[in-house]
Amino acid sequence: MATDWTRRQAEKSLGRILPRLRQDMEPDISGSPAEWDAFEKRLRREFSYLFKLLFELYGGHYDFFYHLEALIGATARSWMERPHDLKALDADREEHPDWFQTQEMVGGVLYVDLFSDNLAGLGSHIDYFKELGLTYLHLMPLFAVPRGDNDGGYAVSNYRAVNPELGTMEQLTEVATRLRREGISLVLDFVFNHTADEHEWARRAAAGEPEFQEFYHIFPDRELPDQYERHLRDIFPTVRKGSFTWHEGMERWVWTTFNSFQWDLNYANPAVFRAMVEEMFFLANAGVEVLRLDAVAFIWKRLGTSCENQPEAHKIIRAFNALARMAAPALLFKSEAIVHPDEVIRYIDSRECRLSYNPMLMALLWEALATRDVRLLELAMRNRSRIPDPCAWVNYLRCHDDIGWTFDDNDALSIGIDPAAHRRFLNEFYTGQFPGSFASGLPFQFNPANGDLRISGTLASLAGLEQALAASDPLLIDMAVRRIIMLRSIVLSVGGIPLIYLGEEWGLLNDYSFASDETKARDNRWVHRPRTRWAQMDFWKNPQTIEWRIYDETARLIRLRKGMRALYNGGMEVIGTENPHLFGYVRQKNGRRLLIVNNFSEHPQAMAENRLRLYGLGYRFVDHISGNERSAREPLQLGPYEFLWLENQPQ
Ligand code: GLC
Ligand code: GLC
Repeated sequence: MATDWTRRQAEKSLGRILPRLRQDMEPDISGSPAEWDAFEKRLRREFSYLFKLLFELYGGHYDFFYHLEALIGATARSWMERPHDLKALDADREEHPDWFQTQEMVGGVLYVDLFSDNLAGLGSHIDYFKELGLTYLHLMPLFAVPRGDNDGGYAVSNYRAVNPELGTMEQLTEVATRLRREGISLVLDFVFNHTADEHEWARRAAAGEPEFQEFYHIFPDRELPDQYERHLRDIFPTVRKGSFTWHEGMERWVWTTFNSFQWDLNYANPAVFRAMVEEMFFLANAGVEVLRLDAVAFIWKRLGTSCENQPEAHKIIRAFNALARMAAPALLFKSEAIVHPDEVIRYIDSRECRLSYNPMLMALLWEALATRDVRLLELAMRNRSRIPDPCAWVNYLRCHDDIGWTFDDNDALSIGIDPAAHRRFLNEFYTGQFPGSFASGLPFQFNPANGDLRISGTLASLAGLEQALAASDPLLIDMAVRRIIMLRSIVLSVGGIPLIYLGEEWGLLNDYSFASDETKARDNRWVHRPRTRWAQMDFWKNPQTIEWRIYDETARLIRLRKGMRALYNGGMEVIGTENPHLFGYVRQKNGRRLLIVNNFSEHPQAMAENRLRLYGLGYRFVDHISGNERSAREPLQLGPYEFLWLENQPQ
């Protein structure tokens, strides 16, 4: 009944909106009638779904219809203004909706200032991206921000202006176009949970304009903040206790989940939803192909809950997505939900986010590297990594953020691991305090109230290279490099899109110089955001250097991946190696099958021959990594941190 009712209201609303919209847009429509028809077709296809979502979110507002009509108007205009080359891309993506699933996909992410000073400089490195094989490039937030600390660009003052130190909007559009011509999709952040306190909306709120105060969560006293805080977690406990910041000018409390200068937007207000949709369309029409939905878990607040992963958060993204399908069908969403694995998965759906970071795999690869025991990784990957079909994980080892130990406590308990003690161990291990640890990492955001701690550090430093180099020990150096390459191989072969945090491909170490920059000193995530040292690369490009070994192996594995049809996304099955040090999985697709086995220990390990026959489905195999043959008539032997990509050979 209720759905019938909603459907009827949807029809009625569209029937009222359309004639007025056609009238308003008359000059555009007569200029390009075919494009208008295409839009109307998509509008009709999506409307009742969108209406239902919006009605559930905002139907209680007396002016719901006003917002709805304005929203559809903005969507129509955005489509009509969309550049022709992007419309061509839309058509292409609609025809090949699985374009991002191929094994050709390889992602990279970088900070423009640290990589190439500015956008103009970035243009001169496109050959480098191609040489590495990238088809996806995420530029860390590059919009206008407050001077000084701006959370690495995540406090945005204006979504339509590039930070002048990095370049201009025109340059960004030009970079997007050039990348697209080279087969590289531009990925940018949609920092939509909060704005900087310098954003025009925040300034007008601070100046006392009620309309803009309603854009944020602003409270006259501690009554509600205290009630909310009973259930909230502190994301940056060393910045501030609690999630609210006192604003002197307004003499009010502002909701600030992250830093005090990042004001959470109030999505219960339909005007906020609408305003952010327009920012989204602006980015889409500038040539962004994938939007990374920053801090997506936090966008809806509900008293008495953690205010993370609320059902409305999903509805908002679905509504964004439905609107994008009307006005920028090529656009994909990537979820950045760094929460419990089961909650991460809930954002992944063709109508929500087709892509998602995989923080569980990331954290558990580091967990297994520390323990040399793959059981928790195996269990979690077997039970908690399946996602709906037209979607993909984005797999990574390090990103610009810290590592948090996100795994399911019951998974740990089921194999005899005490979750709290285990997290303590991992933190001690990765801060190098645990005796015998190879890692050099820094403790991030220690919370004395509950003992929570996360880890900062680069791939190479956490994998042991920093300590090994300091000790000038060739054996330790070799082990560290092997760890790095094995982890890299897993991310390239386990399914989804592998994402390289640029600098990793050369094994860049922690950079401690952030401590003397007062805008960065309080946030040690800067230790793993080193500057790319182009001047040194000529020196590194010498087969004798460690950097070269890491780069060369990375590039070789990428080439190998691209040639393996079995690695097309999907068809990943974790196997039981019956050896706690060996993590194995089968990749099966397009009539090809690869059996991949990784040794997480610095000692040789073996997998029984019957396992090899069972999962490899044969007797003779070629290992694509070494080119050697392996036989299933004897146990499968792996050296320290060795990994094998095995393919069955015809008898
Ligand atoms: C995201 C970013 C992180 C930032 C936070 C606030 O999680 O990855 O770097 O601090 O959001 O925007
Ligand atoms: C928390 C948040 C995540 C953010 C990170 C920054 O883990 O869940 O969104 O990136 O903090 O440190």
